[in-house]
Amino acid sequence: MCGIVGYIGSGGAKDVIIDGLRRLEYRGYDSAGIALMTDGGLTVRKTIGRIDSLEAIIKDLDGSSHMGIGHTRWATHGAPSDANAHPHTNGDGSIAIVHNGIIENYLELKEWLISEHGAVFRSETDTEVAAHLIGAFYKGDLLDAVYEAAAKMRGAYAIGAMAASEPDRIVAVRKDAPLIAGIGDDCNFLASDIPALLKYVRTIYLIENNETALITRSGVTIYDGNRREVKRDVFHVNWDADAAEKEGYDHFMLKEIHEQPKGVFETLDRRLGKGDEIKLDGISLTREDLLAIDRVYIVACGTAYHAGLVGKRLIEGFAGLPVETDIASEFRYRDPCVNEKTLFICISQSGETLDTLEALREAKRKGARVLSVVNVVGSSVARESDDVFYTWAGPEIAVASTKAYTTQLLCMYLIALYMARRLGRMGDEEYGRVVAELKGIPDKMRAVLESEGEIRDLAKSIYKNESVFFIGRGMDAHVALEGSLKLKEVSYINSFAIAAGELKHGTIALIEQGSLVFALATQDRLFDKMLSNIQEVKARGAKVIGLAKQAAEDDVKLFRRSRHGKGEPYRKQESGYLDRSADETIYVPDCADEVAPLLAVLPLQLLAYHIAKLRGCDIDKPKNLAKSVTVE
Ligand code: F6R
Repeated sequence: MCGIVGYIGSGGAKDVIIDGLRRLEYRGYDSAGIALMTDGGLTVRKTIGRIDSLEAIIKDLDGSSHMGIGHTRWATHGAPSDANAHPHTNGDGSIAIVHNGIIENYLELKEWLISEHGAVFRSETDTEVAAHLIGAFYKGDLLDAVYEAAAKMRGAYAIGAMAASEPDRIVAVRKDAPLIAGIGDDCNFLASDIPALLKYVRTIYLIENNETALITRSGVTIYDGNRREVKRDVFHVNWDADAAEKEGYDHFMLKEIHEQPKGVFETLDRRLGKGDEIKLDGISLTREDLLAIDRVYIVACGTAYHAGLVGKRLIEGFAGLPVETDIASEFRYRDPCVNEKTLFICISQSGETLDTLEALREAKRKGARVLSVVNVVGSSVARESDDVFYTWAGPEIAVASTKAYTTQLLCMYLIALYMARRLGRMGDEEYGRVVAELKGIPDKMRAVLESEGEIRDLAKSIYKNESVFFIGRGMDAHVALEGSLKLKEVSYINSFAIAAGELKHGTIALIEQGSLVFALATQDRLFDKMLSNIQEVKARGAKVIGLAKQAAEDDVKLFRRSRHGKGEPYRKQESGYLDRSADETIYVPDCADEVAPLLAVLPLQLLAYHIAKLRGCDIDKPKNLAKSVTVE
């Protein structure tokens, strides 16, 4: 949420900062600003709108400035406006800061600054309070002033600061909001995220909580909370700047949708060892550890939470361990039953989502062992976890998560299978069957993506609908939630997802003539039940778009409802069967029920994308959203 870029070197600060901000625009994009060190002191320009708007108002500024800080904002305190945009300055404009996060005690500090220092405020932001606070403590040494100010601030912050009288240093401080320093050749950098700097550097320092960094042209020095110098190992970024480029696609979202077969292949390939046994790099859970666990919690937000819901079914189904899932913002405030016997799994693409991070800390405080499934290497969630399992999806830039979701799902399969094997709860045959299914997924994903044209045509026929329902049973109920979230966040269509069996307990009241219902029916064992639910909504006038597996005509077998072979028999769904119930049907390649979410979500992502495009939405930067949510 919000992006920070800082540069100090021999010149060209303006261009470096604008370029970095462009790469961070996905983090927040309602306003932007820059502070440059110029002969006359600090020059601050800021505006509502995107980086283009900022660029337009700084055309006249000399490009030779050797240092500066810039910001792209996602509003928290105060609406998007020129005045609320960063950088903010103290009273006489001699100190400028950019800030990500929320200073929780800003009102208290504001009152103190007004009564003790006669501060006059020009914005509604908490950040301006921090600027005045640093100004109030400033006695000629910016590092001292930032230290003193940080000691008074509560909340989360990543701050970059400059003082007009110190043209040789940028000072940064971090608490619960990501911040990195980039090490260049005769120049150094500050940023909230790696993509901002990839064009210039690949060697960085990860600044930790409560640390302060002094960034000069010749070096970066990191100090801990007690102002002792910290020796930090450098971190080498091993992914390419190209990975953060669109590479010919119209949008990052589309590019990232198409990257899923590769992402899933890589996440899987790196983890399958000899004889297809799973190697969980980064996870040291032994059989004894697992035997000592009596409950698993999976906690996350948004799309990552939806991956967790599938994970629950997998761990319970494969490994027989009881699993609870929770939304991070709820978990952390409800005094959950967590103790030393709990395995706490958190899932996060960014590894910086504040609610997830705080839930993790709460679980740790209660003694749980923490395993995280994370995409961003070196992120806060990764660093604070006992075990980390990386999704290896590569950088995800579009705000709407796609490839992170499918790689998170894949990690949940691997973790569940690993647990099942270690606990001796899955035999060789069953294990071989599921692994073979997973290995087949990348090719089947490619097949789904090849049908993009048909999905685009379908989008053309439905993009004007203002209200859409997603229904499904079993795993499909979770994929329905994700399909609905994708659609609403990029197209702004009011969409709602519900377990199909729950529909009749209230929500069906909303179905009327012309309602659009996506009915996910990939689960063979629940197929007949879904057909009944489809009939129920059709009887009330709904138009139904079904989503099912394309089973071969001769592949109609008898299965049993329980995986142990007991219970009522059911028929594997016949190809074309859904056609007779739904108005239109999307097919994905045939696969086992358990792995269907990995395929079923793809057409829904593509539909959301094409519907949003037809509606003229800003797909990669949907309104009101930001990529990584570092506020509560
Ligand atoms: C939706 C989306 C969000 C994130 C959520 C958690 O497309 O991206 O719902 O999934 O904000 O973010 P991470 O995974 O970074 O913790």
